[in-house]
Amino acid sequence: MRKPVIVGNWKMNKTPSEARALLEEVKALDLDENVEKGFCVPAIDLLVAQEVLEGTDINYGAENMYYEESGAFTGEISPLMLKDVNAKYVIIGHSERREYFKECDCLVNKKVKAALAHDLVPILCVGETLEEREENKQEEKVKDQLTKNLKDVSEADIEKVIIAYEPIWAIGTGKTASAEDADDMCAFIRNFIKETYSEEASQKIRIQYGGSMKPENVKELLAKENIDGGLIGGASLKASDFEQLVNFNN
Ligand code: PGA
Repeated sequence: MRKPVIVGNWKMNKTPSEARALLEEVKALDLDENVEKGFCVPAIDLLVAQEVLEGTDINYGAENMYYEESGAFTGEISPLMLKDVNAKYVIIGHSERREYFKECDCLVNKKVKAALAHDLVPILCVGETLEEREENKQEEKVKDQLTKNLKDVSEADIEKVIIAYEPIWAIGTGKTASAEDADDMCAFIRNFIKETYSEEASQKIRIQYGGSMKPENVKELLAKENIDGGLIGGASLKASDFEQLVNFNN
């Protein structure tokens, strides 16, 4: 049985004082202990997350990192820095980073491997554009991303990765993929893992859906066989929404 995993992605929202207020509010909630949960936050909020959340079962992590441990890389943060604040996750290859910051598949691959080498859980984001969906090229696109982004990731490591299937046209738009379409793509990803690694790895790896997941649609999406959780932007910015997402089973 795969444990469901619900992770917020704040993107470029929440100052440190706003972060503290929201995390204190979330910490006081009665959240389902059978669901793994956490927030990926702006780097400047990580120390606040550590202060508020350490010792609870609410995890935290970063939205990005560089793959080197230290050095002359102005503006970047490293896996060692994330480990030092006990971060658990790091989102890698989000479509906004690929689009606005020109991150290529080769860089994404280096970051995934660096995260694994430092015992961070990479949340690898993949997904197609609207144009690719309209041309029915979503499988081709996601397969290409997975092939390049997971290159040289070992059988021992693959099950530690979380893959987030995020169709770009559904991110922040209010348009959600239908539960069937989302499940089809998550099944496609699971099958890729089976063919590339093994049946066992494909049964263990967790695959999230992301793209306008919210309290109104979480139950239907997570009822699907191949959807093991969600990567959530907008609806992770309010404690009551996050509560309903984590407690989708109750
Ligand atoms: P959204 O963002 O939930 O606001 O659509 C999801 C994401 O980008 O991870």
